[in-house]
Amino acid sequence: MTEKYGKLQQQFLCCYPVNKMAWSTVKLPLSWEEQQELIAATCGHPLNRRYPVRRSYLEAFLKQLMHLLKDQEDVHDDIYSNLCVRMGEAPGSGTSYAYKHYLMGPGAHITLRESNSFVSEGTTGLCTWEAALALADYVLQHRDLVRGKNVVELGAGAGLLGILLKLPALELKVGQVLLTDGSEPCVQLMLENIALNFNDKEQEEEKPQAEQLDWNSVSEFPWKCHAETDLLLAADVIYDDSQFDALLGALDYFYSRRGGQLETLLASTVRNVDTLHKFMAQLGIHGYKVTPCANVSACASHFCRDHTAAVQIISIRR
Ligand SMILES: C[S@@+](CC[C@H](N)C(=O)[O-])C[C@H]1O[C@@H](n2cnc3c(N)ncnc32)[C@H](O)[C@@H]1O
Repeated sequence: MTEKYGKLQQQFLCCYPVNKMAWSTVKLPLSWEEQQELIAATCGHPLNRRYPVRRSYLEAFLKQLMHLLKDQEDVHDDIYSNLCVRMGEAPGSGTSYAYKHYLMGPGAHITLRESNSFVSEGTTGLCTWEAALALADYVLQHRDLVRGKNVVELGAGAGLLGILLKLPALELKVGQVLLTDGSEPCVQLMLENIALNFNDKEQEEEKPQAEQLDWNSVSEFPWKCHAETDLLLAADVIYDDSQFDALLGALDYFYSRRGGQLETLLASTVRNVDTLHKFMAQLGIHGYKVTPCANVSACASHFCRDHTAAVQIISIRR
């Protein structure tokens, strides 16, 4: 990450909203070299060259940059060329999918192929949601919670959290990691994203696994082929109360297998307070003890995320 444009680079690569970017770090006027440096740090970044971000996002970014430079005589050719020339299409990119790169510090990043729509192919799981980033931050701040644990993620969507747990650069020393989702397209996407972030040479046990698992049929899953679960993770799965019985049924199944040996960390974006209250009440009825966890503050966060969005993280034990 270049020092001067490091924040903009991190924000650009994960498609952080253009109007909320750290434009104040750009000190005007920008010399020819500085413009070149800024473009090289963002559009010209090797990750973006290989796996490009959404075209509409790139255009919005460059237009905002040109607006910023409107009083300058010289606007660098690289800005125009990036705007005009369509970058070579990477495999799997197109209008429905594009890439995001989550930089988390020196040498640690996750590249994910994600849907450009919040809902597609009958699921909300083909892109990464705020709650997954908040839970990832929480885990990175509380590494002891995951060290040596065998982890199952429920409703894992595009796979950010589980991929992060096994990322060699983060050295979290997690046991086996199984990403699950009820949606087949999500499982396909997770498998692709795992392949993007772990090279073939890595031992199978060093990579997360991904399997289809609907909460309604958790007892039919071949658990014998997997290590006993110590920790369940789930992000943004509390939004549809028609799924509460299935999710609680799945939790009951895991806890009756592991009893006191199991903890669940659940992160939920607070969209509708009543929906969350309803789920909390159900947890109480099912005999669970809920402990609220403190969200990671903006200054300690590893991700570009909207810290004004309310995300509730809880630990569930029985
Ligand atoms: C809003 S997305 C969250 C994805 C990811 N955890 C994140 O935060 O980025 C909710 C996910 O829950 C999954 N899901 C919903 N109902 C499910 C069920 N009954 N069984 C398994 N997964 C389910 C969806 O397929 C979707 O991937």
